[in-house]
Amino acid sequence: MKQKFVCVECGYKTPKWFGKCISCGSYGTIEEINEKKTVKIDVSVNMQPISEITVSDQVRIKTGENSIDEVFGGGIVPGSLSLVAGAPGIGKSTMLLQIAKSIADGGKVIYFSAEESLGQIKLRADRLNIDENNLIISDAHDTDYIASVIESKRPLAAIVDSIQTVSSANISAVTGSVNQLRYSTNRFLETAKKNNIPVMIVGHVTKGGLIAGPKLLEHMVDAVLIVEETGGYKILRAIKNRFGAIDQTAIMQMTENGLIVLDSPEGIFLGDAIDAPGIARSITIKGNQPLAIEIESLVSPYGIGKSTAIGFDTNRLIMLSAIIEKQLKMKILGNDLYLNITGGVSVDETAVDLAVCASIISAIRNEPINMNYAFIGEVGLAGEVRLVKSMERRIASAARLGFTDIFVPQANLKTDVFLHKIKFLDELAGYI
Ligand code: TYD
Ligand code: MG
Repeated sequence: MKQKFVCVECGYKTPKWFGKCISCGSYGTIEEINEKKTVKIDVSVNMQPISEITVSDQVRIKTGENSIDEVFGGGIVPGSLSLVAGAPGIGKSTMLLQIAKSIADGGKVIYFSAEESLGQIKLRADRLNIDENNLIISDAHDTDYIASVIESKRPLAAIVDSIQTVSSANISAVTGSVNQLRYSTNRFLETAKKNNIPVMIVGHVTKGGLIAGPKLLEHMVDAVLIVEETGGYKILRAIKNRFGAIDQTAIMQMTENGLIVLDSPEGIFLGDAIDAPGIARSITIKGNQPLAIEIESLVSPYGIGKSTAIGFDTNRLIMLSAIIEKQLKMKILGNDLYLNITGGVSVDETAVDLAVCASIISAIRNEPINMNYAFIGEVGLAGEVRLVKSMERRIASAARLGFTDIFVPQANLKTDVFLHKIKFLDELAGYI
């Protein structure tokens, strides 16, 4: 059956209209898909033997920050359309204005702010110390007008903030609706390609983590960069890139005067090396960035047998404490157990299980763990220690940070670093 309707929220397609999306449960988000072609694209067909096709070496445009360039795959490709997505207030406009400033050193950049007035942008620019003549701000929100300005003014780069607040009179749907988003994105894609000008569009993300409105947008653009937050830091990474790998990450910090990119972020969450019982260290991966974290546990015998975890899954904490109790014959049940990942970091991967166990064992024994120990691995129900993804990268990161003893599962790992290999959890208790 023909899928004639789509949910603006989650992208679910359906042949029938519903008041409530049966996929994500949102109300009033089902809209008709407008298949009508409203843009006439001049198609000139090229055909050549592959051996004769020449490609001019694309000069990538630099953003002024190496690690942001790397997220773009080595700089911004002229003629590309990138979507920069993130929750409202996370720092998208700030980051793009800073990038716009850097690009404006080499030529004209136009920043279309459909969301904020010129005055508001000026206030932000003042905080960021931005005052370039080459950086043009416009408050246009008509898609076709914006496209024609890009075509006639031919800037070095253009930014549209945001795709949800621009619209075209060619489409009879409200601003932010899926048909408007689809039209505008297509229009900017065409403008970027035809004129060889990179266009960056901002997209807001809903609480659920989807790009608000169209998941569809992700498929249309060349690159999707997302900005997320962990423990007060902003993480920029690509989840799609037609022009590069998606394994690079930039970690930034918002200051009074804009975003600062951190040079070597992997140790930012390591504390002041406190040598107290219950603290164990591990390497988690956020986006694509290895990050050392500290896990602390407190076991209180005066409780009612409640487990509380901050930054970690409580059910997993309960499971791991049951494994320790069974395999190591340690008494935990009946005590109150608190587990916290310091720095406000939250971890949703099993790679830190071994460190969680080490932290609990240390808390129960009331003996600190050597601060130079790091623990990486998943723990199974039989107390077996299992491999997790990116072991070698985590080990290399731990070694760079100066951990001298790294506890890992038994496996053939390609690394020069000396490792303590553990098959079952009870061996860990012997080491620490
Ligand atoms: P913003 O870039 O407007 O977020 P987005 O475009 O993703 O919605 O900025 C978000 C927050 O950053 C806002 O609460 C104000 C703060 N901020 C600073 O702390 N320092 C600064 O220099 C600037 C420009 C903003
Ligand atoms: Mg903004």
